[in-house]
Amino acid sequence: MRIIIKDTPQQVAVWAADLIASRIRRKAEHTPAPFVLGLPTGSTPLETYKELIRRHKAGEMSFANVITFNMDEYVGLPEEHPESYHSFMRRNFFNRIDIRPENIHILDGNAPDLARECADYEAAIAAAGGIDLFLGGVGEDGHIAFNEPFSSLASRTRIKTLTPDTLAANARFFGGDTSLVPAQALTVGVGTILAAREVAILATGRRKARAVRHGVEGPYDHRWPVSALQTHSCGIIVCDEAAAEELRVATYRYFKNIETACNP
Ligand code: GLP
Repeated sequence: MRIIIKDTPQQVAVWAADLIASRIRRKAEHTPAPFVLGLPTGSTPLETYKELIRRHKAGEMSFANVITFNMDEYVGLPEEHPESYHSFMRRNFFNRIDIRPENIHILDGNAPDLARECADYEAAIAAAGGIDLFLGGVGEDGHIAFNEPFSSLASRTRIKTLTPDTLAANARFFGGDTSLVPAQALTVGVGTILAAREVAILATGRRKARAVRHGVEGPYDHRWPVSALQTHSCGIIVCDEAAAEELRVATYRYFKNIETACNP
């Protein structure tokens, strides 16, 4: 696993945007097939989205040949609700870049048959040729997408009931009222994320330090779903200094030294 430790959240965003831009470019050099990008919501990726939008507006990047699959969506929240992940993605990213609407995939949390919706989503990912790069965030309790602690590390897209911790963490988007946060979500599984050719998890701020420590230094452990990244051949955690704060000094220095050696 690669751990990239940057000074600030802004530098994390620039690093992530560089990664996405370079991977889109690299694929385009070899094939006309679209680049398949997995995307998260949450406050962490917002800076990355801003940086990608800035590059697009500056004429440096196009998303015309990109297909996206979002990680998750609440169950039962109307799509037009401002806190649905459909609204979030339109507002913070899709409406401001040149992606084709038909290339955007987000789970439908209001589908009449939710199990069918999840199975169809997995099939759509497969039909697109699999995900080239899955970008993600991490919850304070180590969840990735909505794969809460004790999720199967081989899981695929399915319906999940959210933990009280996640409901409390996400209440800030619902006027601070936990009871307004939908209790369930559709989410890609840990296995779906790990099936991507490359996975980059972003973590910024002190609140994520414990999850980063368990993900990097802890064992492969379903109590900390982010630790599953340890089994991926191209898994990266990109964090800022605050989120790296609970790493052992030896771990911190090891990854900082590698990065300096690679980018003198
Ligand atoms: C939600 C999302 C996750 C996200 C997490 C952390 O639970 N389903 O995909 O990683 O929140 O969000 P934030 O980046 O706001 O801390």
